[in-house]
Amino acid sequence: MTGPMTDTRPLDSATVLDWFRQHGRHDLPWQADATPYRVWVSEIMLQQTQVSTVIAYYQRFMQRFPYLQMLAAAPVDEVLHLWTGLGYYARARNLHKTAQLLCQAHAGEFPGSLEALEALPGIGRSTAGAILSLGMGQRGVILDGNVKRVLCRYYAINRWAGETNTLKHLWQLAELSTPATNVAHYTQAMMDLGATVCTRSKPDCTRCPLRSDCQALANNQVSSLPVSKPRKTLPVRQIYMLLCHQQHQVLLQQRPDKGIWGGLWSLPEFSDMDTLQAWASIHHARPEQNWPVTRHTFSHFHLDITPVPAIANAVHIAEPQPGLCWYPLDHSVKLGLAAPVKKLLQQLYDDRLIPRSPDKHSTSLL
Ligand code: ADE
Repeated sequence: MTGPMTDTRPLDSATVLDWFRQHGRHDLPWQADATPYRVWVSEIMLQQTQVSTVIAYYQRFMQRFPYLQMLAAAPVDEVLHLWTGLGYYARARNLHKTAQLLCQAHAGEFPGSLEALEALPGIGRSTAGAILSLGMGQRGVILDGNVKRVLCRYYAINRWAGETNTLKHLWQLAELSTPATNVAHYTQAMMDLGATVCTRSKPDCTRCPLRSDCQALANNQVSSLPVSKPRKTLPVRQIYMLLCHQQHQVLLQQRPDKGIWGGLWSLPEFSDMDTLQAWASIHHARPEQNWPVTRHTFSHFHLDITPVPAIANAVHIAEPQPGLCWYPLDHSVKLGLAAPVKKLLQQLYDDRLIPRSPDKHSTSLL
């Protein structure tokens, strides 16, 4: 790990267990008769789906397949049918495959080790930990989305949990904090704490049993943790924009209806200087020194704009062709302008039309 060291004392599991007794969820259908099979099915359903949605699906599934052997013997289509509406259908296929594997190679029993559970289709490290702790009375450690959020806040982890090293660190903290006894209750308690108190957008720290030691709360970082996935670096597009002007007017071009700024008025745009020069020459304009590049960022790319001012020949001020117009820089005509274009027009106005004076600010007319 890079960055400042956090205090890594295990969180107080006894406090969490006390809270669970009073405030945890105790009547979820998979908590009754918590066999490894029933816990496994619930954990797979809960991997990507909320408790409130899962309950009815779980009850229908258990009615049809009360035992592992019945699931293994069913056609996969019937399993998929019962899964309809839950989404992520690979989960149902893996469930069926694992049921068959266990019946063929494990005498219909769930293996009692983390490694053997993790080797089964659809079972990752956290699901294996949940099956061990909730369904087999063993010391299984979990790190699902809820627990990650609680730990990231409690230990003020200011790195994205998807990074390999951060994830490794979180697993160490989860291991460290899981008690040796009462693990099933502790596991359920941590899930419940994350789902009902330490929620992503509306955490209620006043009700949290860990508030006195929570480092995010102490540092006023609760709303900024956990850190979300960093945005991937955006590609950069380079364009040149021509600021062709004369007599307080600038030449604008209407954008095609489709694509960025569809239908808005913009400056004539070119992918390279040669094309810009040729176009300017046809329109009787003389390009001057480029302005510095200005960046406009869209959700999926950066647009680096090189503005090129050019003085149009006053003899050729005639009506321009369709799709082009002379736009008065005093903004007396209302047109839809893209944000960076509006900024460039303001800059042109400031640069060229207002006499420069060192102790006076220009008045914006745009
Ligand atoms: N999410 C994953 N496992 C869960 C469980 N056992 N109870 C509630 N939510 C869960």
